[in-house]
Amino acid sequence: MSERRNCVIQLTHTRQLSCPRTRTLATSVAPSDLPPRPSRSLAGKVAIVTGAGSRGTGLGNGRAISLLLAEDGCSVVCGDLNASWAEKTAEMINTSSAPSHPAGPKPGQAVAVAADVTLDADCAALAAAAVARFGRLDILVNVVGVLGPRGTAVDVDAAQWARGLETNVTSSMRLRAFPVAPRDKL
Ligand SMILES: NC(=O)c1ccc[n+]([C@@H]2O[C@H](COP(=O)([O-])OP(=O)(O)OC[C@H]3O[C@@H](n4cnc5c(N)ncnc54)[C@H](O)[C@@H]3O)[C@@H](O)[C@H]2O)c1
Repeated sequence: MSERRNCVIQLTHTRQLSCPRTRTLATSVAPSDLPPRPSRSLAGKVAIVTGAGSRGTGLGNGRAISLLLAEDGCSVVCGDLNASWAEKTAEMINTSSAPSHPAGPKPGQAVAVAADVTLDADCAALAAAAVARFGRLDILVNVVGVLGPRGTAVDVDAAQWARGLETNVTSSMRLRAFPVAPRDKL
């Protein structure tokens, strides 16, 4: 899809033909001919962020992304294996009610959910929390990540290796179904 989109964008600006699949569009499509796109505003949207806690006292990636989403008006389900780390992120969002800049949207709110992204039931609970607390679910930001086991391919612990893959990679698959699921399936 991105390949095709890239081609269209290039063609509309340069009218150079480089992608056979869009060749027929190239000579006739101008930016004003394109259909309306959905709003890219985050105001009123709802996101799940996994790994929304932070190991240290500062900002981990998940906490930072959660705060930025909320600043842009998006409400956030802060999911983390460590409940108190998730709660800290949610508290930071919920106690900061001022827009980040004068013309900015009303900041979003947050709810913390203790969830292990390697468990289907916990992933389902994140989606259910979004709908229960905010009435919708639009965005998944799968930040969760662990370093995984040390060692080489020869001596690495296979069970720990599998656990790392479950956390870092398979979690995207486990959660990807929920944001696109029909609302009555959440
Ligand atoms: N910190 C960096 O400089 C850096 C740079 C590049 C990439 N990254 C990657 O970004 C990701 C986050 O890094 P970070 O530094 O913010 O880490 P962090 O340890 O501060 O945060 C990760 C969070 O994930 C949570 N978590 C771990 N396993 C979980 C599970 N099974 N279910 C739910 N939550 C779980 C932890 O409790 C923690 O709050 C990692 O994948 C990391 O490899 C980090």
